[in-house]
Amino acid sequence: MNYPFEVEPLPYAYNALEPYLNEEILHFHHDKHYTAYVVKLNELVGNYPNLQNMSLEELLIQTDALPNEAKTSIRNNAGGVYNHELYFACMNSPDCELPTDQLALAIQATFGSIEQFRSAFAAAAINQFGSGYAWLILSNGKLEILSTPNQDTPISLTVTPLLCIDVWEHAYYLQYQNRRADYVENWFNLINWDFVGARYMSLMKEVR
Ligand SMILES: [Fe+2]
Repeated sequence: MNYPFEVEPLPYAYNALEPYLNEEILHFHHDKHYTAYVVKLNELVGNYPNLQNMSLEELLIQTDALPNEAKTSIRNNAGGVYNHELYFACMNSPDCELPTDQLALAIQATFGSIEQFRSAFAAAAINQFGSGYAWLILSNGKLEILSTPNQDTPISLTVTPLLCIDVWEHAYYLQYQNRRADYVENWFNLINWDFVGARYMSLMKEVR
């Protein structure tokens, strides 16, 4: 995806994640917050023709190519676009089934069990101070959990995100108020494991 960046439609109905995330949250989150990052990123990149053939990922990885005066703004807004698109894609319905594929085996081998992964991931999400994300990432073929502040993204040449949860208050406050832990707990029911598992398989092919 290149400039001008387009708002990707939500890949399901706005009420598809109820009861765990209500329609109002999804409207604000997708139509206002995520969309604002796309609009702002286009405004910024619009000022620099030499950046306009770079992909979203390239803007986040090749930060040396960014002009000093706009580096932080471009990084924050490109991160806001990338992170939200992955976040929305990682969910699809309130009836998710636990993974049983190669990714499930890798999660068990790395974290002990799906349940232990869930606990560690929830801890990263709950303990992220202030706004940010928790991630399941692939680093040199190995799974890891990490968290990042604000719209930072773990993209680099060797670290690729597989799954993320947005723990900015706008992701849950309208339904959960200050209860981030309840949001995180319920969010596990929404994960689109088919998407995450397919992403894992395609990334592992690149690693080999
Ligand atoms: Fe968000």
